[in-house]
Amino acid sequence: MGKIFTAIIIEHDPEARAAIRDAYNELGIVEILAETDSLIYGYELVRQNRPDMVFVDLREDQTKSLEIMTRISTYFKEIMVVTSGDQMDMQTIMECMQAGAREFLQRPFTLEALEELVVKHRRSLSVDVGGDTSGRILTVFSNKGGLGKTTIAVNTALALSEITDKPVALVDLNLQLGDITTFLDVIPKQTIVDIAKNIGRVDATYLETSLANFRYDQSNLYILADPLHVEEAEEVTADQINTVLTVLKATFEYVVIDTTTSFDSKTLTALDLADNILLVSMVNLPCIRSSQRVLTLFERLGYDKEKVKLIVNRYVPDEEITIDDVEQTLEHDVFWKIPNNYFSIMTAINRGVPINSLENGKTVYQNFLDFSRQITGLIQGSTKIPTNASSLKAGKKNLFSMFGK
Ligand SMILES: Nc1ncnc2c1ncn2[C@@H]1O[C@H](COP(=O)(O)OP(=O)(O)OP(=O)(O)O)[C@@H](O)[C@H]1O
Ligand SMILES: [Mg+2]
Repeated sequence: MGKIFTAIIIEHDPEARAAIRDAYNELGIVEILAETDSLIYGYELVRQNRPDMVFVDLREDQTKSLEIMTRISTYFKEIMVVTSGDQMDMQTIMECMQAGAREFLQRPFTLEALEELVVKHRRSLSVDVGGDTSGRILTVFSNKGGLGKTTIAVNTALALSEITDKPVALVDLNLQLGDITTFLDVIPKQTIVDIAKNIGRVDATYLETSLANFRYDQSNLYILADPLHVEEAEEVTADQINTVLTVLKATFEYVVIDTTTSFDSKTLTALDLADNILLVSMVNLPCIRSSQRVLTLFERLGYDKEKVKLIVNRYVPDEEITIDDVEQTLEHDVFWKIPNNYFSIMTAINRGVPINSLENGKTVYQNFLDFSRQITGLIQGSTKIPTNASSLKAGKKNLFSMFGK
């Protein structure tokens, strides 16, 4: 192998710095651009040189090391952050993962471990140019009740697990009164509370061993249900949700989260961590108005416009208000529309079965399959609703003034 990556070493122990440098000199695959024992200066070096990899050790003052890792992984997402410590216990690994570290090395370093890092990094780049091998979190949200969040979360998760043939997690963050177990008629052996209680042990291995408890009917879908007793919901903290979601993201290809209508700290955690928010709306004035409020709030929270995918549910063609009207009023593209199909969706819910198991549910489920293909990037634009850029340029039509509100 020729030199394929560049690296910067931020490491307080000169012997450890030398070990990394010597190993890569010997292997000849990584060019060390700079070394330092200072976290602050190290960050500056990273900022200026943008290496492929950064080694950050965990020091006595772990908080500072984690801070630097967070900064690097936040501002330079393409850089692989590698951390190392003498004792990598579960709690420490969790904290490092949350700070954006992608690999952990046990000290003292071995040549094999350092080589394996490069091989892994190269493999991940060949799969995904961004280098991010973790899964994608999709948070389904609306700040009005009953618009179809649970319907969309359940069917999107089912469709994603079917088309990707990879494990998908479906999380019920409606902790007080979740509906997913009712929709799919499951009695959970374990719930999100059990995971939260075992937080110190929650890692990929823990999940693997307890996964069977979450599996839905021999499928690729894994359900993390809401607690069996309402009072247990109070015991779960936003921090614990953060940890659980981070581990799920590292374990599953897709994590689909059903939420409540409120902006509490747990919902906010799910919105923050989401790679995409599926904002559910309907084509009527109250829904559009509330979507407008949410979009403004998302903007204030600093969410990228691309992160928010607007989904119109219960869509009926030829209504007085058109999709163009919605897009112009909200200044946001409609990413997808799901047809109104009350009979089959309600029958499926009442029977506690997936819609695709009903003869008359196949058409609406096909829409979820297409939606999921669009989300995964398996199809590009073919069924996507065209946006009306020309009418936007021609001047905004304001729905609220149009209807005299
Ligand atoms: N595409 C659709 N066509 C027809 N009816 C639908 C559609 N999507 C959802 N519904 C119906 O709307 C109702 C509410 O759906 P759902 O429970 O999924 O909404 P929700 O946003 O999760 O509600 P909540 O805020 O109470 O959690 C259900 O009775 C469901 O059958
Ligand atoms: Mg719901």
